[in-house]
Amino acid sequence: MQEDIARILLTEAEIKQRVSELGARISQDYAGKDLVAVCILKGALHFMADLTRAIEIPLAIDFMAISSYGAGTKTSGEVRIIQDLDAAIAERHILIVEDIVDTGLTLKYLVDNLGSRRPASLKIVTLLDKPARRAVTISPDYNGFEIPDEFVVGYGLDYDEKYRNLPFIGILKPEIYQK
Ligand code: IMP
Repeated sequence: MQEDIARILLTEAEIKQRVSELGARISQDYAGKDLVAVCILKGALHFMADLTRAIEIPLAIDFMAISSYGAGTKTSGEVRIIQDLDAAIAERHILIVEDIVDTGLTLKYLVDNLGSRRPASLKIVTLLDKPARRAVTISPDYNGFEIPDEFVVGYGLDYDEKYRNLPFIGILKPEIYQK
């Protein structure tokens, strides 16, 4: 699997350090609030597991599965809810946990969708931000790393459902998706 990676962009240690910083900030910002962390499946699974354990205040977790990509590396702009939240979010403080913001179309859809359910507040934490490709004006409230316009995999991020289990974030060799 590692032979398909051109270069490691973020090591396991760098990710761990940054996730713990984000957890500390979120713990401070949400102290005393009814917080629900909403994991956007599947890409944010690993980030969610580590981030929530770095948050030191009580919180609820929920999951939403959406799809915006086929098997390619470009977003279609069309977002579909595959699995919705279990619980109502009205009057609660919602933190969307995303893997990466690229064009921003997925996040825009999520913010509109969840925002219409009258949460007390709605914020976004993303592990990665690729601002070069933004198509809509949206920016995460908390961001782990700003990255260049490269297709990355690992730590939850996939290409064609593979590479999610790499412990680091790496740049996929273009010949893999240009096949
Ligand atoms: P957006 O709607 O273009 O912002 O795309 C967001 C979604 O596309 C993310 O939640 C990822 O699932 C996926 N995505 C965007 N860039 C990458 C990448 O470099 N590697 C893997 N998945 C990506």
